[in-house]
Amino acid sequence: MKELIPFHISQIEPYVPGLPIEEIKRKYGLKKVVKLASNENPLGPSRLAVEAIRKSLDSINRYPIDDGYYLKKALSEKLDFPMEQIILGGGSTDLIKMIARAFLDRDDKAIISETSFLMYRLAICEVNGKEAIIKVPLKNYTYDLESFLNSLTPEVKLIFIANPNNPTGTMIRKKELDEFISKIPDNIIIVLDEAYKEYITDPDFPDGTNYIKKGKKVIVLRTFSKIYGLAGLRVGYGISSEEIIDGLKRTKTPFNLPRVSHDGALGALEDEEHVKKSLKLNTQQREFLSKELKKLGLEVIPSVTNFIMVKSPKPAKEFAFELMKKGVIVRPLDAFEAPEHIRITVGTEEDNLFLLEKLKEIL
Ligand SMILES: Cc1ncc(COP(=O)(O)O)c(C=O)c1O
Repeated sequence: MKELIPFHISQIEPYVPGLPIEEIKRKYGLKKVVKLASNENPLGPSRLAVEAIRKSLDSINRYPIDDGYYLKKALSEKLDFPMEQIILGGGSTDLIKMIARAFLDRDDKAIISETSFLMYRLAICEVNGKEAIIKVPLKNYTYDLESFLNSLTPEVKLIFIANPNNPTGTMIRKKELDEFISKIPDNIIIVLDEAYKEYITDPDFPDGTNYIKKGKKVIVLRTFSKIYGLAGLRVGYGISSEEIIDGLKRTKTPFNLPRVSHDGALGALEDEEHVKKSLKLNTQQREFLSKELKKLGLEVIPSVTNFIMVKSPKPAKEFAFELMKKGVIVRPLDAFEAPEHIRITVGTEEDNLFLLEKLKEIL
């Protein structure tokens, strides 16, 4: 008899979410819990987004706006790409899955990096099983593009790159990425996942959309979950050539972007002040927190994002659990293949001081 779950699906490790904050408070008898585990915007959503969502509520008897028309139009103007070269998803996570489904043929493989965003391997596995994943180690906490080149085989169809990378917080510089992309054969699609792009102030960061303009087979992924503060609405977008977007439209679930999410994202896009304020806070607090963590004797990986990878003084799961019992939720990185590290999202000044106080108690 056939197994109920196909073998390649049984190889997927289901995503394990953390307990809700209210449950943690109840379980450990805590008054205050600070969550620094999911790289969310600690300032909250933009007020313009919240207003737009409120207005949107009166129309939720209707299906979502066809194909996210107005959001795509606004993005098209902002990014200077025709609407036909943009696609919307339920977070960039949804787009990553759409990409694997659209472009991996039966025996195709994909290259990813070790210690990077988990969704790439889940998406590849869902289509072609674990055997379709070619995994390259990091070098010095950064993507090792030379090893990517050495791993190319005729079966490779997709390359996933998180720039900057989660959970290390490091980025690939322009010259290196230019050279890499120029060496990739034209039958391979490179996904540049830029979920944290808006946090970067270094002028040497390569904006992936320039490769699309030059005709490279690149898909750039961006999201409203990070600096725009809308993780709970699930809105992401992809930019690529018309041909590639046409392929993606074929694996897109119709109406994948709820009305409130569409309208909220439009509001957030207009609120440039909120983005500026979020960037300023993050840059200041990242410097402050990195310095203070080092003062506590912790090894900190220099970050260009809104989170910091830290070497854990004891097994990361145990350390994160101790912090949770004191009211701070951070991410142990065992699922990211870094069991000796934790990842801390940069919070507000108050959040970060609370974390430092609890760290001092433990260390
Ligand atoms: C590198 C990277 N890409 C994509 C995402 C997913 O974002 P979204 O909320 O848009 O699905 C994350 C979220 O943590 C991420 O770290």
